[in-house]
Amino acid sequence: MTVTLAGAGAALPERVLSNHDFVHLDTSDEWIVQRTGIRERRRLAADASLAELATDACGRALADSGVAPRDIHQVVVATSTADRISPGMAVEIATRLGIDRPAAFDVSAGCSGFLYALDHAIAAIESGRADHVLVCGAEALSRITDHTDRNTAVLLGDGAGAVVVSRAEGGLRPSFVLGSDGTRIDLLHVQQDKLLRMRGREIFESAVDLMAGHTELVLERAGLGAEALDLFVAHQANARIIHAVRRRLGVPAERVFLNVDKVANTSSASIPLALAHAGEQQLLHPGAVLGLAAFGAGLSWGAGVITWRSPDAVRPDGELSAGRGVR
Ligand code: ACO
Repeated sequence: MTVTLAGAGAALPERVLSNHDFVHLDTSDEWIVQRTGIRERRRLAADASLAELATDACGRALADSGVAPRDIHQVVVATSTADRISPGMAVEIATRLGIDRPAAFDVSAGCSGFLYALDHAIAAIESGRADHVLVCGAEALSRITDHTDRNTAVLLGDGAGAVVVSRAEGGLRPSFVLGSDGTRIDLLHVQQDKLLRMRGREIFESAVDLMAGHTELVLERAGLGAEALDLFVAHQANARIIHAVRRRLGVPAERVFLNVDKVANTSSASIPLALAHAGEQQLLHPGAVLGLAAFGAGLSWGAGVITWRSPDAVRPDGELSAGRGVR
């Protein structure tokens, strides 16, 4: 028995902000593109529901996986910008999707939140407590952005992504590692004024070390080398950070997925959004070995190796996923 990603889905708000929309902050398209790779980001309307956007992403992930809502045993949502403090968004999303009384809860671990939620889902399936878990990352970072601060305002975007995590037969056993260091809270935090503050340059250096070092660790534990990765999907905070990590790992540029140009930094939504966009671009195939890595507030971090639909994964309808033309 193993655990794979059975499907992914994305949902973005309609409103697009280009780099030119920030020139009043004494910045420029050239600076933003050169330093970050970001060209545009999405913005959720102030009165819009993030749970609704997240439900769209989850519905698409379910459709992509072929898993029926009735077969989902748990719903876990990673977010730091939920519509309300309590209850979490997971219960609302589950109900909107017609998932019957699942275990449902939110996780808050900054930009690493999605990997924390995914690690929980894998453990739940490996321990026999669940067969299929819906894992979502959803953020409306515009709710905690200081829109007058060029150091952060240009970097952040809103969006939601989701994956279905499923029990499968055969294939690679997932290998994950998570960690945190609370002595470095001051590098990136949201305090009582509810606005995100960070020391970008210091985070940059730590992000490269943390993502490269922990990806090497999970590869080693899985008995794999970097050449085994079909696609490396890291937290989309800055294209320069991701390229620095891939150079440290020795992963060629064509095996690294980037969508930070289109969505900017969407925190917990970043990796599932990237996975869904990679799927839409036909970059995933059954059995593809994925390397995932994230860092964020805490500092917190995570890295993992997992397959996309093991070739011999048994789908809920009893058919094999391979050979059916699925991505
Ligand atoms: N436009 C123009 N100039 C800017 C802008 C901007 N938008 N933002 C900062 N600058 C200036 C700074 O004020 C600084 O000016 P100074 O030298 O006169 O003081 C100068 O640019 C250079 O600053 P650096 O910090 O050296 O620039 P760097 O190349 O490191 O890029 C950046 C800054 C983009 C923030 C980068 O460090 C980074 O991406 N860090 C990681 C950020 C991150 O990933 N945060 C965690 C995620 S946030 C979240 O999780 C929700």
